[in-house]
Amino acid sequence: MDIIVKPDLAEVSGDLLVLPVFKDRSWGPGAEEVASALGSWLDDYFDGLDFSGKVGQTAAVPGVNGFGRVLFVGLGDEADADVLRKVSGIAGRAAKRYEKVATTLSEIDIDGAVDAVTYGFLLGQYKFGKYLSEPKLAKTTELVLTGADDEGEVAHGEAVAAGVAMARDLINEPAGGKKPEVLADIATDMAGELGIDITVYDRDQIEEERFGGLLAVSLGATNPPRMVVMNYRPEGAEKTLALVGKGIVFDSGGLSIKPAAGLETMKTDMSGAAVVFGTMRAIATLGLKVNVMGITPLTENMTGGAAQRPGDIFTARNGKTVEVLNTDAEGRLVLADGLSLAAEHKPDLMVDIATLTGACMVALGKKVAGLFGSDDDAAGQVEAAARRAGEKVWRMPVEKEYRSVLDSPIADLKNIGDRYGGAITAALFLAEFTDEQPWVHLDIAGPARADGDDGYIAKGGTGFAVATLVALAEDMTSA
Ligand code: BES
Ligand code: ZN
Ligand code: ZN
Repeated sequence: MDIIVKPDLAEVSGDLLVLPVFKDRSWGPGAEEVASALGSWLDDYFDGLDFSGKVGQTAAVPGVNGFGRVLFVGLGDEADADVLRKVSGIAGRAAKRYEKVATTLSEIDIDGAVDAVTYGFLLGQYKFGKYLSEPKLAKTTELVLTGADDEGEVAHGEAVAAGVAMARDLINEPAGGKKPEVLADIATDMAGELGIDITVYDRDQIEEERFGGLLAVSLGATNPPRMVVMNYRPEGAEKTLALVGKGIVFDSGGLSIKPAAGLETMKTDMSGAAVVFGTMRAIATLGLKVNVMGITPLTENMTGGAAQRPGDIFTARNGKTVEVLNTDAEGRLVLADGLSLAAEHKPDLMVDIATLTGACMVALGKKVAGLFGSDDDAAGQVEAAARRAGEKVWRMPVEKEYRSVLDSPIADLKNIGDRYGGAITAALFLAEFTDEQPWVHLDIAGPARADGDDGYIAKGGTGFAVATLVALAEDMTSA
C-alpha cells in the first residue's frame, strides 16, 4: 500500500473517505464540510444508527466531493494516540474493500498523529490468508493522509507495523509449518536482507555451547532445536539492548502433558521469539543507532521417547543445576540459557519476552502483560516505552521472599514453585540466570493472542510487545 501525505483534502479524491467525529457528533477535521455537502438527512440517519461519535462507532454513507463513499468514525471525548491507533485500525478493517482511501484522521492535533494513523490502519487490514484458497486480502492500494507533510512519521508507522505483521504471520503459522530450522532460516533471510549478523546453533552446537535448558526441553521432539543469535550493530551506536524471546513452536506440556482443550493455541508459545524477529526487523529498517542482540531459543516441547522425565536434572549454561518437576514449565528452561548468554555480553539492558505462565493471565487477563524488573530504573524504562507504544503492561514484583519455593533438595533449584504466585515464581526462576544485571521480563501469555478483532488487533497472534520494544530501543539510541 502506498501511503501519501497531502496538505489539503480538497485536492484528493478516491473510493472511500474516512472522517472523524467526536462525542455528541462534534465534527473532526474536514467532516463539517462533507456533512453539509451530503445534506440535511444525515442527522436523522445518524439518529437511526445511534451514531453519536463514541470511540469506535462507524457510520457509512454515500459518497460526495469526489469520493465513492464516506465513513464517519467516532473518536469519543478527546483523541490521544491510543484512540487514534485503535480507530484507525477499525477504519482500516472497514476499508478493506476499497482501493483508494483517504482520511483526515491524520489532522487530529496531537504529537505522532500521522504515525498512529499509519500504524493502526495498516494493522487493521492485517490478515493471515496463507492457507485460504480465497484469502480475500485487503484491496487498498493507496492511503492519503491529509493535513500532513511528515513522511518520516509515515515511514516509522510502516516499519513498526511491518515488524508486528511479521510477528503475527509467524505466530499464526501452524506449528507443523514452523519447525525450529524453518524459523532459523526465516531469521537468516531477514538478517541477510537487513545487514544483521546471525549465528544459528544446531543440536550438536547447542550441546557444545552448554545450552542445557534448551537441550533438555528438545529431547522429546523429533524436529531438532535451534538457538538463533542475531546482532544488529550500526555505526555510531553506544548502548546495547539484548532481547531474549521464548521460542516454543509447540507446547504440548511434554510428559506433564496439557489437556486437549485449547491445545491448538499452543502454537502461540513462540510469540516471544516472533516478537524479537519483528522488533529487529523494525529497528534495522529504521536504522536506529543502538546495538541490539536478539536471542531466540527455538524448540518444540513434545513427548517423544527421549523426552525429559519429571524429576530429571540438567545443567544450564551458567552452571546452575535444575530439577525439572514439571516439564510444562519449559519456557523458563530455554530462557535460562538465553538470559545467561545475554548476561555474558553485559548489555545496558536485557529484556525477555515470553508466553510464560497461565498464572499471569489469571492475574492480569488477556489484554495486559506482566512486567517484572530487576530494579525500578529498568522497569520504569520499559513501562514508559509501553505507554508510548499504546501497549498495556502492569508491574509485578520479583518478590525475594518467595525465592525459597524454588529450593530443591538435590539440585540448585527446581523449575516450579507452590500453588500461588506462579507468574512471580517464574520470574524468580529467570532472575537466577541474569547475573544480577539490569533486566526486565515481560510475561505476554495473555496479550500474545486475541480471541477476536479489536481496533488494530486481529483475532489470533497479536505481535504484542514489538511496538514497546521499538520504543525502548529508540530511548537507547545515540544522538
Ligand atoms: N506456555 C505455557 C503458558 C501459557 C498458558 C501461555 C496458557 C499461554 C496460555 C507455559 O509453558 C506453561 O505451561 N506454564 C505452566 C507452568 C506451571 C506448570 C508451573 C502454567 O502456566 O500452567
Ligand atoms: Zn508449558
Ligand atoms: Zn510454554
